[in-house]
Amino acid sequence: MIDLHCHILPGLDDGAHDLAESLDMAAMALKDGVDTIVATPHTLDGLYSNTLDDVSQSVETFRTALARNQLDIRICPGADVHLCPGMVDRINEGRAVTINNGGKYLLLELPPQNIPPQIKDEIFSLKLNGITPIITHPERHPAMQRDLRILHELVSMGALAQVTAMSVTGEFGLPVRECARAMLELRLIHVIATDAHSVESRPPILSRAVEAAMDVLGNDEEAEDMAGRIPALILSGEPVEAAPPGRVK
Ligand SMILES: [Fe+2]
Repeated sequence: MIDLHCHILPGLDDGAHDLAESLDMAAMALKDGVDTIVATPHTLDGLYSNTLDDVSQSVETFRTALARNQLDIRICPGADVHLCPGMVDRINEGRAVTINNGGKYLLLELPPQNIPPQIKDEIFSLKLNGITPIITHPERHPAMQRDLRILHELVSMGALAQVTAMSVTGEFGLPVRECARAMLELRLIHVIATDAHSVESRPPILSRAVEAAMDVLGNDEEAEDMAGRIPALILSGEPVEAAPPGRVK
């Protein structure tokens, strides 16, 4: 499996505190069947800058530490980029890191309390520049929980969406789990990732969510694709042929 969203780099954000925790998270992911992790620290003005240089350097150091500890897991650069004006310029200037620094896919997090009106302009502009935004954990966003048409509209514009593993398995509570399941059923979700932050409270466990998604979708292969084939295409910058989402009633 490939984990496309993981705060595993030490000390860059509110994820792993130090190298020891990063290594423990990597060992845990490996044991769960993950062979590739995209390291995606928060990128948010005034709080976490995490430029391309910062992330690349941290990934290099972490790769060396993994090898020294005989942990055979692949780490790729990325970022969990919070929506802000001028996303394309930020990417071109190395102030927001695309997945695997490939310039094709970007993890995009929305502000927690609202859906800013400029979201559509930003998605349009990203797509125009050949970059597909992947909306992170829409099932945990109150406005999107209330109205599935919001995500439906963004996906119809060409965005993809990533559900968080612990949402599908119910560890964020029942309303989040129900929303995650409804989004999966409507084929509004394309990727399952851990969005792990730690060993204890937000661990990098992906397999249980894939199993739960198999039940929801009634299709094992489709669930496995969300943590395997589709993230692999995203990592290599290839197009993802997403089935059109179902109609929101
Ligand atoms: Fe995240």
